[in-house]
Amino acid sequence: MANLLGKLIWIFIICEALAQQAPNIIFIIADDLGWNDVGFHGSNQIPTPNIDALAYNGIILNSHYGQSYSTPTRTALLTGKYPMRLGMQGPSIMAAEKKALPEQKLLPEYLKAKFERFFYLHNSYRINCFVLEIGYETHLVGKWHLGYTRWNETPTFRGFDHHFGFYNSYTSYYDYLSTWTYNDHDYTGFDLRKNGQPVKEEAGKYATDLFTEHTVEVITNNDGSKPLFIMLAHLGVHTGNKGKPLEAPQETINKFGHIVDANRRTYSAMVAKLDDSLGSIMEALEQKNMLANTIVAFISDNGAPTIGDFPNWGSNHPLRGQKDTLFEGGIRNVAFIWSPLLVQSARVATDLMHVTDWLPTLFTAAGGDIGLLDPDMDGIDIWSSLVYDLPSPRNDILINIDEKTRNAALRFYNWKLIVGTSQNGTYNDYYGNIVMEDIEAQNYNTSAIYESPAGKIIRKVNYTPLSEAEYENLRQQSALKCSAAKKNPCDPATGAVCLYDIPSDPCEENDLAKYFPSVVRRMKRALVDYRKGLVAQIEGDVDIEAADPKFFKYTWNPWLDCNDVACQVA
Ligand SMILES: *[C@@H]1O[C@H](CO)[C@@H](O)[C@H](O)[C@H]1NC(C)=O
Ligand SMILES: *[C@@H]1O[C@H](CO)[C@@H](O)[C@H](O)[C@H]1NC(C)=O
Repeated sequence: MANLLGKLIWIFIICEALAQQAPNIIFIIADDLGWNDVGFHGSNQIPTPNIDALAYNGIILNSHYGQSYSTPTRTALLTGKYPMRLGMQGPSIMAAEKKALPEQKLLPEYLKAKFERFFYLHNSYRINCFVLEIGYETHLVGKWHLGYTRWNETPTFRGFDHHFGFYNSYTSYYDYLSTWTYNDHDYTGFDLRKNGQPVKEEAGKYATDLFTEHTVEVITNNDGSKPLFIMLAHLGVHTGNKGKPLEAPQETINKFGHIVDANRRTYSAMVAKLDDSLGSIMEALEQKNMLANTIVAFISDNGAPTIGDFPNWGSNHPLRGQKDTLFEGGIRNVAFIWSPLLVQSARVATDLMHVTDWLPTLFTAAGGDIGLLDPDMDGIDIWSSLVYDLPSPRNDILINIDEKTRNAALRFYNWKLIVGTSQNGTYNDYYGNIVMEDIEAQNYNTSAIYESPAGKIIRKVNYTPLSEAEYENLRQQSALKCSAAKKNPCDPATGAVCLYDIPSDPCEENDLAKYFPSVVRRMKRALVDYRKGLVAQIEGDVDIEAADPKFFKYTWNPWLDCNDVACQVA
């Protein structure tokens, strides 16, 4: 009897210990941030000392791929599935469009669930710690962009305990109004909510600061009873409304007098605010003593739109293409992960990673059993590859198939195949260099990284913080080098199929299709196979007659639940 009691106490203690292990997860998404707009990829133009400190001391994910615009990338992140399996492979959702992410179990729902945690006693008896409720507290701060025709499509009905942010693709940075033009008429509505309720009293503060402050508040108020999952989906550095697409505090813009292009100066200030955000978050985590058991991940959702309809003057240099193309400039993301849980950190990972991989990877990091995940998931758990620098199980990525534009791309080991084009090929060229001109050349200041808030804090938790020389070394490794001669860039807009060897030709300058016909055949066959799992893309009509913000006290609001459009829900 005493023996049994002793065992039960042990089981209780072990279960309790397992329960406390689940790490806090802070997942940060930058919007439309270009490859070349962070210091760690090699540019001196915009200092990003906090981002760089975390990237160098964590793992730089240099072959991380997303989709070519916002809604599909967020779909892939939260479902672990290729968007074309869900009808979400097409363009991003517009305001008042009758389109939303279909019913799926999302990342925050997986993290909220009661985990089945277990351990083995004497290596043979499996003991399940069923009794514990150790689900995560889940927060979305910032952008949703996965639909809001009805309330049950909004974040607090889809696994997020809390949401503070906006539903559309963008708002203005101070007034949180989002303006959309349909049939030459502008429709403007307020778009900032806290758990569904519009919060007009929060307007006036710069969006990147506001979302950072809210995130800091969530961290500060955490009582430690549940691990935290915060998805901080910044508005920065997307454009706001037409007329004033780029906005940043003037004192921040003034720091960029060395840049020739005035729009690029404002954009750089927007990036600098994004960098400050990471410093503030690290300070909050450190003050709560949470750092030792926290994962910080950072990705951009797609490449920067340097030119075009909503240009933000971001730079994907030296990559080809931009947002809305399947060239590397559109889909290869700024990405890193930092955590004291990573045993082999301070390195540049060149292994393929797709945005769908985060769901199974974070679920594993949280102690979940991936056997519990949807078996139709495309994401691959790479947690142990990240932690121990083991070979990655991911060897190919379906980048996308869009059956309407007939644009598709695939990675297979070092190869990338592109067929068809988006936007009639308008953005298949190189744009990132034109905005990079400086009045005077800048130096890269490694001591600024070392002395940044994130840099200082990392020194307290990393046993062997990196030296400034090691920063430089990692920076050399993560910067992409391209040949100056564009031998045979290939333009799929002409109907050609283009094949590139990405590790040796990251800038997609040298088409190898005619030299490797069997690779082309094999990859085309793989596309045909993937095509069988494609669900026709959801065609959302813009329902502005019913969704007009004027019916909802001039806010963008779920409208289909209101039988009477004058129901004034907001
Ligand atoms: C592409 O070209 C076709 C034919 O010229 C035109 O109808 C279509 O609007 C164009 N699409 C875009 C996105 O420019
Ligand atoms: C580099 O950064 C450090 C620390 O922030 C600062 O003291 C120093 O003035 C900077 N150097 C230059 C050349 O800007």
